[in-house]
Amino acid sequence: MTRPFFIDTDTASDDAVALVLALTHPDVEVIGIGVVAGNVPLDMAVQNALYTRELCGRLDVPVHAGEAAPLQLPLTTAQNVHGGDGMGDLGLPLSGRTPDTIDAVEALLVASHDHAGELTLVTLGPLTNIARAIERDPSFPDRVARTVVMGAVADHIGNVTPVAEFNMWADPHAVEAVLDSGLALEFVGWDISRFYAVVEPEQAAALRNIGTPLAEFCIDIQRVVAQFCATTTKLAGFDLPDPIAMSIAIDPSIAIETRRLHLEVETESELTRGMVVMDVLEYSDRPPNAVVVTRADRSGFIEMLRAAISA
Ligand code: BDR
Ligand code: CA
Repeated sequence: MTRPFFIDTDTASDDAVALVLALTHPDVEVIGIGVVAGNVPLDMAVQNALYTRELCGRLDVPVHAGEAAPLQLPLTTAQNVHGGDGMGDLGLPLSGRTPDTIDAVEALLVASHDHAGELTLVTLGPLTNIARAIERDPSFPDRVARTVVMGAVADHIGNVTPVAEFNMWADPHAVEAVLDSGLALEFVGWDISRFYAVVEPEQAAALRNIGTPLAEFCIDIQRVVAQFCATTTKLAGFDLPDPIAMSIAIDPSIAIETRRLHLEVETESELTRGMVVMDVLEYSDRPPNAVVVTRADRSGFIEMLRAAISA
């Protein structure tokens, strides 16, 4: 039996690989893809999602455009990380495709009714669309079985500021709304990506050598990210935050250690904007509002990736 997934994404290079994992996996039925501005402006992210869907041969999966800007703050993209087009600036034909007429927030609400109690929501970008869905229908969280969020950092080593992870930093007010909503949240932070989802050059070459169009696509679009990782985040290769989050959404056993914690996000401070504070020692008397993944199975993740791009 397949499980219904709705994916929310600011589609750029690692989001695209996460989409490939879900769109090719036999256990998953992707009900819809909602797009949000984040890594790149909304229109570009929509085109990147449409291109990826097409490459997977999944024209049957609708792509819905969502929010073009965060709830309160101006949009700051990450084109320095992913390339001007968000997909490594390879010159791919990333234009001219048409998304569904229903907007991403509406599509998510409809999916939550159609698959009430069964839906897995996977968020790969800023949480703006999800916050808007909660605002439009406060009963929405009750109908979602799991919400897997790629975001935050359990060790507070950030990738956009010293302490913040990009998706949380981009729209902290949306994070606040989501944390308070009652959604059953599972956080896969950037620390998990740094520790378990770095693809070193030799491994990247081996994966690319699988030789399928999907293998070449998934590796080649990491070109600009690889430079960012070498110079800024100082990793031994490029990392794949959204794909490792997606792999845990697809196969929860890839999360080999988790903790239930109370989380709060900083929305005001310039220094710590978007920092998700995790109350490990239970200083606050507030009950846990999220599960945080603290260790993951790297080889399980790489195997899932290999299977997806071998198709
Ligand atoms: C997250 O930020 C984005 O740049 C990536 O796509 C990922 O969702 C990692 O911090
Ligand atoms: Ca993303």
